[in-house]
Amino acid sequence: MPISEIGGYKKFPRVVCLTMKTALFKNFGKPDENVGIHNIPTPEPGPDQLRLRIHFSPIHPSDLNLIEGIYGILPELPACPGGEACATIDAVGEELQTQFTVGTPVILPQRPTAGTWSEHLLVHPREIHPLPSGIDLEQASMLALNPATAWGLLEFFTPLSPGDWIVFNAANSAVGYALIQLAQQRGLKTLAFVRREEAMAELQELGADLVLLDHADSLAQAREAFDGKPPRLALNAVGGDSALRLMDLLANEGVHVTYGAMSRRSLKVPNKFLIFKRITLTGFWVTRWLQSASIEEVSTMLNELAELMKNHQLHMPVAEVFPIDEVQAALLAAQGDRRQGKILLKF
Ligand SMILES: NC(=O)c1ccc[n+]([C@@H]2O[C@H](COP(=O)([O-])OP(=O)(O)OC[C@H]3O[C@@H](n4cnc5c(N)ncnc54)[C@H](OP(=O)(O)O)[C@@H]3O)[C@@H](O)[C@H]2O)c1
Repeated sequence: MPISEIGGYKKFPRVVCLTMKTALFKNFGKPDENVGIHNIPTPEPGPDQLRLRIHFSPIHPSDLNLIEGIYGILPELPACPGGEACATIDAVGEELQTQFTVGTPVILPQRPTAGTWSEHLLVHPREIHPLPSGIDLEQASMLALNPATAWGLLEFFTPLSPGDWIVFNAANSAVGYALIQLAQQRGLKTLAFVRREEAMAELQELGADLVLLDHADSLAQAREAFDGKPPRLALNAVGGDSALRLMDLLANEGVHVTYGAMSRRSLKVPNKFLIFKRITLTGFWVTRWLQSASIEEVSTMLNELAELMKNHQLHMPVAEVFPIDEVQAALLAAQGDRRQGKILLKF
């Protein structure tokens, strides 16, 4: 496939003879059937660009939704999938020679259409964030989306004080893992709902205050644990009845934030929650926040998360790491239920 036909590379036609492996999809559809590996020329950076050598990139539900053609932003086709990655600077454009050094570890702050499933990627300096030395690169590849989402969910919706409860579903997801760890840093108490028993022990070990199965029978036990101080923040990544149970547990005037839709079921809100409890229903999309926030705000957040990760106070579970050549197997694994962590691609 000529390089000029590939989304994201159209603007950078200068190439050298070396080739690189890149994942591409030409049509929207089932991820494991539509994404293939192609050898294409390795691009050379323009004067104000950096070339990255990608090391690890995770497969997120948003990547799957993007390949399926059902995400909030869609790329021009053909396109390379992948929204975040950990990389090192590999070549520096003429104008940037005094500011950047080859070998510096960086992440790409999450952008759903970044196209990170490739051995190399050309970027402008504003598209990367430097990492502290000594941080684990595999872990760092998962820093910019889910921990950033958890950070935003705790930061933006309602004031919280140490000792306050928060409640959330899909708690064994990557966002859930980050929520438990960041809530702990803030002295918040966590009620973590999961949909299967096998996922409970790992979250208790991680430090969740209470882990319950996500069904109606668990509500009484949750209320008992709150001891008259119900949560003012509920975080919903599932939808349907699970989202309603979170509303049921909220305090009067609490805030219910939807940030995911794993069950693909809509919210049908009983009127009483709006009339008598006066809860606020809202949503969060970290991509939108990253687009609107200043570089300083985003850097402050990423530096805080990177320090926690470097000091092993923020750890994201990994189910399996696949070489880029096995992208279809990796996509099948990522689409499967009951994973114990992220599927990563290694380049
Ligand atoms: N709004 C934002 O800015 C933003 C940012 C990041 C993520 N998200 C969303 O947050 C959610 C979690 O993302 P992630 O990367 O953390 O996920 P993940 O690590 O891939 O984990 C997926 C989670 O969803 C659960 N799940 C899968 N299918 C389900 C179903 N049909 N009903 C209920 N639960 C189901 C899984 O449970 P099992 O382990 O039992 O299979 C697991 O807990 C996704 O919806 C994602 O799109 C949103």
